[in-house]
Amino acid sequence: MIEEKILVMDYGGQYTHLIARRCRELGVYAEIITKDTRLIDKVLHGVKGIILSGGPRTATKEDIGPPFITNLEKLRNEKIPILGICFGHQILAYASGAKLAAGGNPEYGEMKIKVVSDTPLLSGLEREQKVWMSHSDEVCELPESLTALAESGDDHIASFASKDNLVFGVQFHPEVTHTQNGMTILRAFLRDICNYEKEWTPGKEIDIIVEEIRKTVGNGRVLMGTSGGVDSTVAAYLIKQAIGDRLYCVFVDNGLLRHNEREEVEKAFDEMGFEHFVTVDAADEFLEKLEGVVDPEQKRKVIAETFIRVFERKAKELEAEYGEFAFLGQGTIYPDRVESAATGKETSVIKSHHNVTLPDWMKMSLVEPLKDLYKDEVRKVGVKLSIPSKMIRRQPFPGPSLAIRIGGPVTREQLEILRHADRILQEELEQDNSYDTIWQSFCVLLPVRSVGVMGDERTYDQAAVIRVVESKDAMTASVSRLEWDVLLKIASRIANQVRGINRVVYDVTSKPPGTIEWY
Ligand code: XMP
Repeated sequence: MIEEKILVMDYGGQYTHLIARRCRELGVYAEIITKDTRLIDKVLHGVKGIILSGGPRTATKEDIGPPFITNLEKLRNEKIPILGICFGHQILAYASGAKLAAGGNPEYGEMKIKVVSDTPLLSGLEREQKVWMSHSDEVCELPESLTALAESGDDHIASFASKDNLVFGVQFHPEVTHTQNGMTILRAFLRDICNYEKEWTPGKEIDIIVEEIRKTVGNGRVLMGTSGGVDSTVAAYLIKQAIGDRLYCVFVDNGLLRHNEREEVEKAFDEMGFEHFVTVDAADEFLEKLEGVVDPEQKRKVIAETFIRVFERKAKELEAEYGEFAFLGQGTIYPDRVESAATGKETSVIKSHHNVTLPDWMKMSLVEPLKDLYKDEVRKVGVKLSIPSKMIRRQPFPGPSLAIRIGGPVTREQLEILRHADRILQEELEQDNSYDTIWQSFCVLLPVRSVGVMGDERTYDQAAVIRVVESKDAMTASVSRLEWDVLLKIASRIANQVRGINRVVYDVTSKPPGTIEWY
């Protein structure tokens, strides 16, 4: 149980998760709640402050209707400070009687503001500050009860505070790195204004998580699909810590894995001391079902269905041998559950292993040890648990595996070609020490032939794409600026050494508008 926390109320802004992550980086545990959450005593237990996120809409009278006002009054009575960011700044001001101007002051990108009042939120900052703005509506007139703290452009209100120092607003985004002193401002709110005293770290959660698993599972048994990915590995390890050999891990080899992947995963789980870890060799079954399938979504569907069948079969076998499983372990992490309100999917989207929905009889109680952590925090927990670094460093790998990195039908031959190219790419990135700074790096095999020349022979082979991206959460991604020499070496090795590929291209598309995977 977290003793002190901050709530981030989500109005659908693109930075909601970033706000929560920044708080956690400052040692302050933050959780996201939907904009419609009623702030009753149970919700406010241990809450030291609330941040209202940005959002894509113009504030309306409904936004500051009775539920919002009731929440505000409750916070005031409890003396819990509130910080509104962008849209949050606007509705807080509006609710206190300020005037808003829709479209009144569009400001996008890096802007300068002037600090005009010395308050705990902006104290110690130089008068002129660089901040990141992304809005067009503005708060244009403040009521008596609010004081302007900073101005942008020609005296536009960039920040305000209530006279009782409980309600604050910033039109800019302190959570974005382009805001020069964004972290200082957030820290001032969290530590000086909310008086958050604890030093939260993901590592400190381990004992609490393990204890919670013990309480939930009691004397029961947990079944878990483990893919060898960071999330399911760390989750499985925590469950093992809690209940030991009553955890049963099933690893499905779908025949679509990377070079040596199955062997590496098996070895690592063995080294980590997992008592019950079974591999199901289902390569033939998956490849048979995928025969002739070209459409990427169809591939996903076939793989998900086959996975369910294989997993279900193994689960029944294990049940026959060991008795009933009352619990299903999952590597769900925080962003899997809390989607942005902007997408309309506000909470609790359960991530099933490999994107699958399990049959009804397998809908057991879930054990999700990482459900409140972000990916980088999961890695920190993994390091603290001394899980082999090879497992912790692994990049995300999609459930449908290499099948969605092959254009056209998936065959053993195509898989072999892609595996070989991919192995070369990873070797060279390791050699260059750039593997750890990358979010994902992989090759894609295009069903496109072009003419080449090798020795005296003319070739007419396929093309490989190198895709290397940087990202925090896969929602957006930018292209890695690999050294030119490194890229040339990778391309040369792939074109020369991989039979079936005679041309290599580098994908320089960010996400959006591209996606990370090709298919
Ligand atoms: P995209 O391609 O949508 O990928 O930019 C975002 C992240 O999700 C992974 N990905 C998948 N993961 N099943 C998965 O488990 C899928 O069908 C799937 N498609 C994409 C991708 O590798 C990236 O990390």
